[in-house]
Amino acid sequence: MTKPLRVGVAGLGTVGAALIAQVAAQRAQLTARCGRPIDIVAVCARSKGKNRGVDLKKLKWFADPVELAGDPSIDLFVELMGGSGDPAKTAVEFALASGKSVVTANKALLAKHGVKLAQLAEKSGVALNYEAAVGAAIPIVKTLREGLTGNSIDRIYGILNGTCNYILTRMEQEKLSFAECLKQAQELGYAEANPAFDIEGHDTAQKLSLLASLAFGTKVDQSAIYVEGISSIAAADLAAADELGYRVKLLGVAVKTPQGIEQRVHPTMVRKESSIAQVMGVTNAVTIDAKGINPITLIGPGAGGAATASAVLSDIADVARGQVTSPFGRPTGSLTSVRKAPMQRHEGGYYIRLMARDKPGTAASIATRLAEQEISLESIVQRHPKDGPSADTAKGSVPVILITYATSEDGVRKALAAVGRDKVISGRPQVIRIEKN
Ligand code: HSE
Repeated sequence: MTKPLRVGVAGLGTVGAALIAQVAAQRAQLTARCGRPIDIVAVCARSKGKNRGVDLKKLKWFADPVELAGDPSIDLFVELMGGSGDPAKTAVEFALASGKSVVTANKALLAKHGVKLAQLAEKSGVALNYEAAVGAAIPIVKTLREGLTGNSIDRIYGILNGTCNYILTRMEQEKLSFAECLKQAQELGYAEANPAFDIEGHDTAQKLSLLASLAFGTKVDQSAIYVEGISSIAAADLAAADELGYRVKLLGVAVKTPQGIEQRVHPTMVRKESSIAQVMGVTNAVTIDAKGINPITLIGPGAGGAATASAVLSDIADVARGQVTSPFGRPTGSLTSVRKAPMQRHEGGYYIRLMARDKPGTAASIATRLAEQEISLESIVQRHPKDGPSADTAKGSVPVILITYATSEDGVRKALAAVGRDKVISGRPQVIRIEKN
């Protein structure tokens, strides 16, 4: 029989344990599909004694991932430790430099060092596969890297963080508070060790940086991304969105504009009838707008042990088949630097919620400031004071919700700064961008 692919796995958290279980359960099918068996022969983790619900007895144990990465008993190094620094970075570099292919789920490592690691893989003629780093089980890396090689992509956007989508869905459907929903997401194991990373949008930004590189042939550059999280989203915004025919989602968007490539992560209003608005809970979704074809949307489980292991396993299978694809879909020498489109130049519709002082002239004053920036309104709703939060009502303020036609970010910022100076509102305005879909 053809020689098995011998795999070493560093990191035995929920994904590592699920991977070991899936390789055992799918052994016959994998052998048939790849033409050779896949054997996990060695593992590395912090604690040897911990019960992970999988049988590790026959596997060689390593305490040091770098040692495992260079060990001659393995052909492929699977990195599931996470983190952009060591030991993951050195272990992956060492494996690639020693001519071993690498499969990783580590978005942080790739967002920071992706181009250098891809160069190293290229030099050694080995694979660097990372399907699990974006959207877990959704085959989005493969879709962009291989399936759409012949297409010119204009925009890619998606729900890339299960924790945020879970929180927004629960807040909307169950009328629960942000804090309650976050606690539940943590209990279910969706959130990162530091949940601020999820809810402030950085997890989405790391994933978006990889997708943008694959879609536009640019060097991965997380610093080119404008990032806003969901912690300012209030129940009042979700209720207003619902009434106006929208849902609020944390989206990562990368789009070609005349100014360059705009990359942004922020809470976004999407039309309720759009595909992306139907995506609920921990599910992720990515839509690709490519020239000449209708948009493609991929939807699937974006977090959790089994979903992530499924993508890791498909990457391992590619290595077993002898496939080596450029990590970012083209030779690293032809990746270009990102020409970043400034966020101030962003054009689109806006949802604006203000707590307006309930006295004559307020509406006229707000309308004047918007008109000065040539902002045209699609709708304006002033709530009855009893619909507003009681504390604000007590201060004599009423909620006013504005939806603008497409306008510039710069104009919105300038208009709201002027409204603030006019002292006709209390508190900070809430602004949510509207994405056309
Ligand atoms: N914390 C991430 C999420 C896990 O919620 O989507 C997968 O990257």
